[in-house]
Amino acid sequence: MKRLLPVTIFTLVLMVIGTSIALASEIQDSGTDLVAGAQLYDKWYAVLGLPAPQGDMPIWSRQSTNTRSGTETWRCSECHGWDYKGVNGAYASGSHYTGFPSLILATADMTEEDIVAHLKGENDSAHDFSSYLDENAMGQVATFLKEGLIDDSEYIDSISLKVINGDLEHGNELYDSTCAECHGEDGMKIIFRTEGVDETLGDVANRDPFRFLHRTRFGVAGTEMPLGYDLGWTPADGRDVLMYAQTLARGKASEEITGAGEGSGPSELIGGATNLWTGILTGIGAFLATFGSALLFLTVLVLIGVLIVTALRRRN
Ligand code: HEC
Ligand code: HEC
Repeated sequence: MKRLLPVTIFTLVLMVIGTSIALASEIQDSGTDLVAGAQLYDKWYAVLGLPAPQGDMPIWSRQSTNTRSGTETWRCSECHGWDYKGVNGAYASGSHYTGFPSLILATADMTEEDIVAHLKGENDSAHDFSSYLDENAMGQVATFLKEGLIDDSEYIDSISLKVINGDLEHGNELYDSTCAECHGEDGMKIIFRTEGVDETLGDVANRDPFRFLHRTRFGVAGTEMPLGYDLGWTPADGRDVLMYAQTLARGKASEEITGAGEGSGPSELIGGATNLWTGILTGIGAFLATFGSALLFLTVLVLIGVLIVTALRRRN
């Protein structure tokens, strides 16, 4: 009978460990799905490493106000906006106007399954992405649309495009510690080329704060840029960085052009691995991030188990 007690305790400890690991990996998974979904929303063919589709997206011909053509017309962001509000948001007028719907409104009463069905063209055959996005990718976009959307009107004034209620000093700190390394203290180290125009980070922050906020939260597919979401930043942290970035140098893009940023983001890279070494490092990093905390937890629990068992033995 006395022998049974340690065994029971040990089994219980094992069960706790098992459940914790399962839970931890589930949380990790849904976070990763959300981020992947956000990047797919930005530029799915860059994330999936697919060649950019040729010609216009079939639905494109239902409007004539937005005169862009080809590849751009296939991006969720071009039709539904960087604020996810389509015709009800920043794209209610201007050169991006299409009249296409707000996903904040539309997805409110859709389930993830409904969204995936829509992406398979089940409600509108012209909205069929299933020959490009597999089941997994469609599920990730759906997760993002259900769990990752924010209402930008809480953070950005729709007329002046300036940040509302931000904390400039906090934004300055976050920028200097996390962004300046690559973008430079003045935001001019990387010059973006968007639709033929060269822009500093300050230009992007002022001209398209919605895109800035989306990309600060979720990064740019194919780059090594850190993701606010992974750093545990709240949308308000992203807003503060945006507020600071709006004060950075503007309209001074030098001749030193990287060519990067064409079509607002690189398209040829996959998963941020630029060469073999960074690929291997990214792999090891991801492995450690996933299993490191679980391993630590497991070790601590096993130690506790051993201590209890020894203590009980002593009492015998
Ligand atoms: C060429 C423009 C265009 C692109 C690109 C596009 N959509 Fe749409 N989307 C529309 C239009 C127009 C509608 C409304 C008509 C319809 O349902 O087809 C719509 C509807 C939707 C709906 C359902 C909303 C409702 O009212 O039922 C969802 C969800 C959606 N889109 C998500 C996406 C996602 C995710 C992507 C990227 C993978 C995407 N869309 C790409 C134009 C586009
Ligand atoms: C490791 C280097 C690196 C760091 C650190 C970094 N970025 Fe980036 N960032 C990039 C690269 C590379 C691009 C893509 C350039 C291009 O478009 O080709 C980019 C693009 C962007 C864009 C998109 C601009 C556009 O035209 O849409 C924004 C916004 C941005 N970064 C903001 C930030 C912010 C805010 C931080 C700090 C949280 C940050 N970045 C940290 C490397 C970095």
